[in-house]
Order: sequence, then C-alpha cells, then structure tokens
Amino acid sequence: MTALDEIKIGGMGARRKRVEDNRFIRGRGNYIDDIVLPGMLHMEILRSPLAHARIRSIDTSKAWDIPGVRLVLTGEMMATRNLAWMPTLSYDTQAVLATDKVRFQGQEVACVIADDPYIAKDACEAIVVDYEPLPVIVNPTQALADGAPLIRDDKENQPDNVIYDWEVGDRAGTDQAFEQADHVSEIELHYPRSHPSPLECCGSIADFDRATSKLTVYMTSQAPHIVRAAVALIAELPEHMIRIISPDLGGGFGNKVPVYPGYVMSILASILTERPVKWIEDRSGNLISTGFGRDVYLKGQMALRADGRILGVRMHTDADHGAFFGDAQPSKFKIGLMHSAFSCYDIPAAHLTARGMYTNKAPGGVAYRCSFRVTEAMFFQERMVQAAADDLGMDQAEFRRLNFVRDDDFPHRTPFGFLTDSGQYGKCLDVGLKAVGYEKFLEQKEEARKRGRLLGIGISTMTEPLGAGNSREYDILGIKMFDSAELRVHMTGKAILRTGAKTQGQGHETTWAQIVAHELGLPAEDVVVEEGDTDTAPFGMGTYASRSTPVAGAAVAMVSRKIRAKARKLAAHLLEVSEEDIEWELGRFYIRSAPDQGVTIQECAMAAYSNMPDGMEPGLEGNAYYDPPNLTWPFACYIVTVEVDPETGVWDVLSTIAVDDCGVRINPMVVEGQIMGGLTEAYAMASMQFITFDAEGNCVGSNFMDYLLPTSWETPGYELHEVVTPCPHHPLGAKGIGECATVGGPAAFVNAVMDAIKDTGVRNIDMPLLPDRVYEALTERHDVS
Ligand code: CDP
Repeated sequence: MTALDEIKIGGMGARRKRVEDNRFIRGRGNYIDDIVLPGMLHMEILRSPLAHARIRSIDTSKAWDIPGVRLVLTGEMMATRNLAWMPTLSYDTQAVLATDKVRFQGQEVACVIADDPYIAKDACEAIVVDYEPLPVIVNPTQALADGAPLIRDDKENQPDNVIYDWEVGDRAGTDQAFEQADHVSEIELHYPRSHPSPLECCGSIADFDRATSKLTVYMTSQAPHIVRAAVALIAELPEHMIRIISPDLGGGFGNKVPVYPGYVMSILASILTERPVKWIEDRSGNLISTGFGRDVYLKGQMALRADGRILGVRMHTDADHGAFFGDAQPSKFKIGLMHSAFSCYDIPAAHLTARGMYTNKAPGGVAYRCSFRVTEAMFFQERMVQAAADDLGMDQAEFRRLNFVRDDDFPHRTPFGFLTDSGQYGKCLDVGLKAVGYEKFLEQKEEARKRGRLLGIGISTMTEPLGAGNSREYDILGIKMFDSAELRVHMTGKAILRTGAKTQGQGHETTWAQIVAHELGLPAEDVVVEEGDTDTAPFGMGTYASRSTPVAGAAVAMVSRKIRAKARKLAAHLLEVSEEDIEWELGRFYIRSAPDQGVTIQECAMAAYSNMPDGMEPGLEGNAYYDPPNLTWPFACYIVTVEVDPETGVWDVLSTIAVDDCGVRINPMVVEGQIMGGLTEAYAMASMQFITFDAEGNCVGSNFMDYLLPTSWETPGYELHEVVTPCPHHPLGAKGIGECATVGGPAAFVNAVMDAIKDTGVRNIDMPLLPDRVYEALTERHDVS
C-alpha cells in the first residue's frame, strides 16, 4: 500500500470546498428564525425614543387588554426578581429593562409576549411611557466637561463619567527618547463608531420545561458556554439544567458575543408563561442597540532621528463606550489590546494613556472582527507611520523597512510588553511592493500629478496578537481562556468531532475535519463537525477575535494525536509486534522492518471495538483542552492604489494587494475568503460606513439605506499573496487569519487617499472618506490660489 495523498483526502493544504455551503446555498441553513417549537409565543421589545430621560411612569394597561397578549414585562417587574440589571463582560452593570432612566436611544424599556409577533408589536405601541428629558452627552469631550450630567447615577462610587484612566509603557524612557529626537511627528484621529451588522440579527428562543426544570435556549451566540455560565449566575439556575444551542449563525463579527437584554427577557418570559418564547431582533434594533465597535479618539507623537529611526512613541486614547461598559476583554487589559500597537516595529520606548467614558449611546467597544481594540491600535500605528515618513521626506516603504523588527530578532519584546515569536516583515513588504510595481507606480503618480491627476498609494504593515489565551493572562469574567475538542472515531472509521468554538460562517465544519485528516489519515469527508450545543460540545470560550485556529484548532490537532497514540497500540496488537517497532505514515501503521505489513487507521478503529488487547479500555475517543503558551502573531502588508477626482473628491481604488502570513494554512481557499471579506469590511469603513449620533443622541444610520454594506458592485478587486512563517508554538504552525484584513486594511485605503492629496497639506481626514470630506480637503489646498 502506498502512502495516502493528503490533498486527496482533504487534509492540510487542500482547497476543500466548504461542506456547510451545501446547505447554505440551498436555503437549508437552520437559523434561529427557522426554529418553530410547539406552543411558541413571540416577544417584541419597546425601545426608548430618547437618549437620556428619567422615566416618570410606564402604563401597560392598554397593552394587556389586547387579545393575544400573554405577558407584559417592565423594569419594575424585572427588579422584583433581581433581573432589572445584569453584569456586563467588563465588570460593569447594564439595565435589562430600564427602571430609573433611559441612557441611550433604543434602550429596552418594556417587552410584550403574545401569540404572534404582530400582536406583540401592536401591544408595544399601546404602552405609554412618560419621560422627563435630560441633557444628552454624545462624545467624550462632553462627558468630561465641567458640570456634565452624570450618566451612571445608578452606580455607587461613580462621581463622573470616566470609566477608567489607565497607562501602560515606560513614561520616563519615552520622555527621554523625545528629548533626544531630531524631529517629532504628530497625528490626531477619530476611529468612528462602526457596526458589525451581521446579515442575521440577534434572537433567541427560550424554552423552560416546568416538568423537568430544564431550560433550553436557542440563541445567536458566538460563545454558548459563556452564556450558559452567565445564565446560571444571573438567573440562579443550576448550570447542568441549562442547555444553550447556537444553531447556524448568519455572521457574528463580535456582535453576537455579548449577552443582550432580549435574551434575558425571553428566558424570564418562558419561565413565567411556561411556553417557548421567541425573540427576533429587527434590523434597526440591531443597529441602534447592540455591540458597536470602535469610537475612539487617538492622538500621539513619534520621536524620530534624522536618519529615519523611530526612538519613541506616545499615544493617548479617549474611548466612547456608551452608557454601559460592555466590551468583552480580559480583566488584566483594561483597554484591551490597544497596547499591541507598533509591535512590528523596533521601538525602544513607548507610553500609552487611555481613558474610557460613558456617553448617551448604546454600549460600544465590542471587538468587531478584531481582538479588543487592536483595530484602532493598528490604524493609529499605520497612519502615524505614514505621517512620520512624510514629515521626514522619506519613502514610506523604506521608512517601514528601516524600523521593522529584524527576522533574526525573535522572540521580540514589543514596545508595550508583548513577546512576539516570529516574523518576516521585510519579506512580506517586498512581496507587496513587487506585486504592485512600486517604483513604476511612483513614476506614474509623478507623471499624473504633472497633468493634474491625483494618484496615491497607501501601505499598511502590521502584526497583531490572535488566539486568546494563554490562561495566565487572558480571561473573561475570571474564566480562563483555553479551548477544547472531543473526537470519537466509530468502529467503521467514521468520526464525529466537537469543539468549544462556534462557527458563524468561517467554515469550521470544513477546516477542522481537515486537521483530523492530516493527523489521522481519515478522509475529511468521514469526519462530521459539530459546534454550539452546550449539552454535547466540550466547554470552550467560543469564537471571536480569530481565536479558533490558534486555540480550538490546536485542540483538534492534540486530540487527534491522542487518538493516534491509542491507535498505535492497537496496531502493535494487530501486527503482533511491540509498539517500538511501529512506524506511522498518513493513515497507516506499519512494521519498520517490513513496511509492506501494516494496518490502516480504519482497521485500528474496528479493533478498538472488536479486538483490543487485554487490559485496554475499549473505544477510540478522547478529548483535549488546549491552553496555548502564547498568542499567535500573524502579519500582513496591505497596499492600495487610488485615483482621486480633484473636481469631486470621489476616489476609485485602482488596485488592492494583500500579503498575509497566517503561518501554515489549513485550507488556503477558506483563508483567501477570510482575507477578501476582511478587506471588504476595511474598504467599507474607509469609504462609506457612517453611523453617528446627532446632538440629541439620535442614531443616524440605523438602517441599511443609511449604513451601507458594500455590494459586489462597489467592492474593488483584490490580489492576494502569501508569506509563510510557521508559528513556533502552535502544533500545526498555524496562526489566526479571520480578522487581519479588517484590522490592517483601513489604514491602507486611508493612507492611499491621503497620499494622493498630500499636496493639500491636510494631515488627516477621518473615516469614512466620503467625497465631500475629500473635496473639502482639496479646496483647502495650499497650492491653489
Ligand atoms: O476564530 P475564527 O474562526 O473567526 O478565525 P480563524 O481562526 O482565523 O479561522 C478562520 C477560518 O480560516 C477557519 O475556518 C480556519 O480553519 C481557517 N484558517 C486556515 O485554514 N488556516 C489558518 N492558518 C488560519 C485559519
């Protein structure tokens, strides 16, 4: 027998088509709204029209009178069960239903449970709420102003609107670096609010069975096990009597990490009515009230030597968290991973100060396709780097190359204290420059300039930490961050794999099976993957921040290796030799001295149930909990070229090059899909996405007519390249990839436009770079009379 061809069995490196797409493209996905339970009731939420107001009274009598209404819940009723408030993922509290005040537009004020969703909606409109409007705060400057109204007057020891005031880095060393600098560059930016806007909004179906006391909740959660723990703690129900099932999710992007009031209310409603209760959020509800990302004001300085070396960096951020501090982030890092900034550059000293403020906006700051503020960090980094290169009159690529951490300088301690393990930043940049034809483009740009055409090129190079934990440093509400996999190989050699991760469209059903194929030689099509049911999947921290491959993917490799170790014993028994005389090749054990005598992994599986050696436990299954030694550090170089129309400020993307290094790729096609999706989100944020708040706290952009998702019509084409630097500590050498392009991409687009209009002397335009903003910058150009 010859060795198996790994690509043919769908192992590592195979461009295997996504198995889940078979049901998705046939309309056979099983999303939350597809689930119908016998006797199911429907829940609708009444939301506040005002951003800040005291609630004088809530009159629900007319709603109760509507036929078909089964229950009307208010904050007062929730309070009698100690459920009016719930903890957030950042040790803050959040109102489930408002009792004293509303603190943002769209906040949940009451809810109705009825026989159908239309009756529930009509009944919501019949509820009369008497509000006393209060002054509104919509940005950190207003939050910090003298005499600003106190938003969280519900909290003890909260004298002002500041949530945290924190610093990291070497203040004295950084001051010294600035004293030695030949030049100091500065930049100030706002990374605006953005919304993850998954195509499927949030929802839940709670089903409490009085007879068994079992609570089953189907819900849109990226982290079902964390939710189970939260429900056990908040509702004081026994954890083993709670089953959370996340069915197919229509995207998540961080939006489906938090526990939202709607989930909690549907659970209480099911307990009270003893019927299943379904809540399906509408689009505006999703856009105005759930998990916003970003909204950070960033400013900083870079100390530079005349030859282009960076001596030090200072950064300050003011983050707008909305009315409740609801980020998901490890308790050790108060501002998340903002201090991953400048990790690919060799910078002797850096100092970061960060403040977080309450405002009258929906809770913000979720890790929207990123790890806890890493997007803002990378955006600031790459905008700052371009500004510094321009100030010194240096080529932006050369400036980066000069300051990169060298390939032989790993492990490398970053300016804010992380330990990066590997990188080839210069090579990654070179691949990108070659692909774009850098020198030639610079010539074309110069030629075009002479003829009044504005071409620009933007570069963004970065490395970012992916794969929380390790458990020493990373937790959510004190629960350590690791992940898990359970593998059962049946007697016929078919297998079922379950993990603590939860795919939302990333393709885990395809790629996890490829890891098993790689480790065991079982064809990937013989491995079915299941995630998202807490009664069956092993405990895990879920999927966000591209942690699945670094942590759960590693657990899949480790559990497969445990199975292989047992299979080796079975092979020795079947071949009647000692284990030491056995060799392994993909899918087969053989006798070292007689390679043609061997047994397949499938034969070992059968033996595990029918012919095991004396004393061996039957069966071929196991589990693995993987606690990574470190984060993985993928890196990338994104290069964008644009042409700006000087008459209108409209800009077109001419080319987008992405060079990504996510270590060893499990499925290159899935990886490419992740990069293209990430670049599209980056382009959307840079060019068109705008969700903001007027002075009264009204959310502007609360529908898809105003908050734009790019379609294939607007989306530019992408050219993808790769560099492969295996992660030294991951069992497969893999690193995360899902969020890289969203994190690193925006700066490339913005840098390209700013490069095109460099002659104006305008230093920054905040995203989105709408044509009117660019036009305004162009009309301020200094060389136009
Ligand atoms: O946590 P999440 O699944 O969002 O992100 P990820 O771990 O970066 O993985 C996204 C998808 O890309 C998954 O299907 C991975 O299996 C796949 N991937 C891969 O094939 N090779 C890598 N080196 C990294 C991810």
